[in-house]
Amino acid sequence: MFDEAKLHQFIGQMLGDLGGAASVAMVRIGDALGLYKSLHSKGPMNSGELAAAVGGSERYIREWLAQQAASNYLAYDPQTRKFSLPAEQAMVFAVEESPVYLMGAFDLMASMVENQPKVEAAFRTGGGVAWGDQGTCMFCAVARFFRPSYHNHLIGAWLPALEGVVAKLERGATVADVGCGHGWSTVMMAKAFPNSHFVGYDFHPASVEAARAHATAHGAGGNVTFEVGTAKDFAASGLDLVTFFDCLHDMGDPAGAAGHVRRALKSDGTWMVVEPMAGDTVEANLNPVGRLYYAASTMVCVPTSLSQDVGTALGAQAGEAKLREVITAGGFGSVRRATETPFNMILEARP
Ligand SMILES: C[S@@+](CC[C@H](N)C(=O)[O-])C[C@H]1O[C@@H](n2cnc3c(N)ncnc32)[C@H](O)[C@@H]1O
Repeated sequence: MFDEAKLHQFIGQMLGDLGGAASVAMVRIGDALGLYKSLHSKGPMNSGELAAAVGGSERYIREWLAQQAASNYLAYDPQTRKFSLPAEQAMVFAVEESPVYLMGAFDLMASMVENQPKVEAAFRTGGGVAWGDQGTCMFCAVARFFRPSYHNHLIGAWLPALEGVVAKLERGATVADVGCGHGWSTVMMAKAFPNSHFVGYDFHPASVEAARAHATAHGAGGNVTFEVGTAKDFAASGLDLVTFFDCLHDMGDPAGAAGHVRRALKSDGTWMVVEPMAGDTVEANLNPVGRLYYAASTMVCVPTSLSQDVGTALGAQAGEAKLREVITAGGFGSVRRATETPFNMILEARP
């Protein structure tokens, strides 16, 4: 026995979900060929005009345009037979500095699908998948996904929410950005605070190389360096500020990392822990953000942590209460939620 109305409703949901999944490749082609950016800069076009603008095949672009209009990613005018990118959709697909630029999220979806065989095998054994063994450029996707949020919030909102930190950074402070990945957060801070010195650490050598290249390409000065180092053995000490952006929950031994950070900080130093937004219970996370983050957690974060010593596997939806436990286990006396966005919570830990 089943309820026909509920079945119809659920099939409706599935159509939407499958349409989203089918759009991953479509959106990434639109990005790779500059289709969104061309529509954004040149205005409404038909398939021939867009093909000429980007130097691509009209027949493929005609099909792509129709799928994008059916997805409400583009608008279609039957009178002129032209397609356009509305301003709101442009913020998601074309404007890299926008706070809601989501192209990195589409890259991440593709990396997660690519990761399936390795993670599926780990489901059977309970083992991990090392960060460096994940999908072809999982690291690039992650860096691209987080960058818009850091670009729009880090300097103007997150650092000012920490007690006394901006004044120290303006005077000249020593900072370690741990688990820095491709280093966007480190480069942004180094450019904003030229009197301070920043070291980005990550245990993944290829990410450290990419971070060095980004620093050079984006004109960061001599106040930023990148080194290979784990969260439990990075070399810096006597630090005013340590930052962890979206990485504490990925670590095998987050409590061990907390202890090392505590020892590396000055007695009046600050540890900024940026973590995915989450409630403390499963039921609090049964929402669209939790849906995405539980998937990323299953495919990326849990396998990464389980591949390391201890293998705590906090998961990307650990929630503030669990994070507090880990941070205080490292010897921190106070933990406060300094600020938040719909996707992130920013915790301030003090010795
Ligand atoms: C989700 S990524 C975030 C990267 C970067 N902070 C960002 O926001 O774009 C997690 C990062 O943590 C690093 N990582 C994981 N475990 C680590 C450990 N034990 N020590 C140092 N880095 C670690 C990974 O190499 C990866 O770069």
